[in-house]
Amino acid sequence: MECRNPDAVRDQILEVRDLCYSYKAENGTLTPVIRNVSLSVQRGSFVAILGHNGSGKSTFAKLLNMILTPQSGSLRIDGTETLREDITEEEIFALRRKIGMVFQNPDNQMVATIVEEDVAFGPENIGIPPEEIRQRVDSALRAVNMTEFAKHSPSQLSGGQKQRIAIAGILALLPDCIVFDEPTSMLDPAGRAEVMDTILKLNREKGITVLLITHYMDEAVQADRVLVMDHGSFILDGTPREVFSQVEKIKEVGLDVPQVTELMYRLHKDAHLEVPYDILHSREAVDALKLLYAKENGGSALG
Ligand SMILES: Nc1ncnc2c1ncn2[C@@H]1O[C@H](COP(=O)(O)OP(=O)(O)O)[C@@H](O)[C@H]1O
Ligand SMILES: [Mg+2]
Repeated sequence: MECRNPDAVRDQILEVRDLCYSYKAENGTLTPVIRNVSLSVQRGSFVAILGHNGSGKSTFAKLLNMILTPQSGSLRIDGTETLREDITEEEIFALRRKIGMVFQNPDNQMVATIVEEDVAFGPENIGIPPEEIRQRVDSALRAVNMTEFAKHSPSQLSGGQKQRIAIAGILALLPDCIVFDEPTSMLDPAGRAEVMDTILKLNREKGITVLLITHYMDEAVQADRVLVMDHGSFILDGTPREVFSQVEKIKEVGLDVPQVTELMYRLHKDAHLEVPYDILHSREAVDALKLLYAKENGGSALG
């Protein structure tokens, strides 16, 4: 018998068990891409997902959003099993709205010629009454700090601004969780920073659960939890510090660690300095090196 604390269940916005997905080629051959993945995501958390190209991250994201249907396993969204035989179409639509998705290319996500109409598109599509749409659009534009661009054409916006409008369009559907699939990879550094600030704010101030697929280590460092995907399963799962201190394992799967972690790792491994390398921020590296200097100089600290 399954014995579970109902509050504990509600605490997990996503519960994935033994999920498997294969793409089917025209000749019928199946290519397994997601292999027996199990994962629980706590409501309100910020999870970064890393993995080299082709490891299955985007496929996993599309399974969570029910764009793709797995061949086997279980996927609970907000406590409801989505892979039941008897699930209704209404239930699927309602569950799908709980998990928003933001993709890489902001241009592919724009549908209207005026910003506020673009943000209104989702709620209009699901039959929200006009006065409530107005409120949702205003609130979503405020949340991404784009109110002053409400009447602009998306074509006048920078990449970072367009991506914030795409986020507003998802927010207008009032999701519990947003899966971001490399949302900053087509942006310049200023655009990347704007979008990261927006994502952090939605997580911290609005309590939206964030799953951020990224190949930028400086973005992953800002998450509560980092998952590393390789060949369709998660091979590392922990806090950024726990995960990035596994330098060798991360390199084995073709990824990098943050630059400062790499530097400390080299000082430790190659220069045989007695410094830790579970380090994520340059100020921690400075402190560790000062401490080492003081030790080696009989206690006299470096200024
Ligand atoms: N529509 C598709 N049809 C067949 N194979 C696909 C399709 N989309 C992705 N794949 C394959 O699935 C694997 C995982 O792809 P993907 O989920 O996009 O990985 P990632 O997002 O980590 O780069 C890759 O080998 C890719 O070629
Ligand atoms: Mg991808």
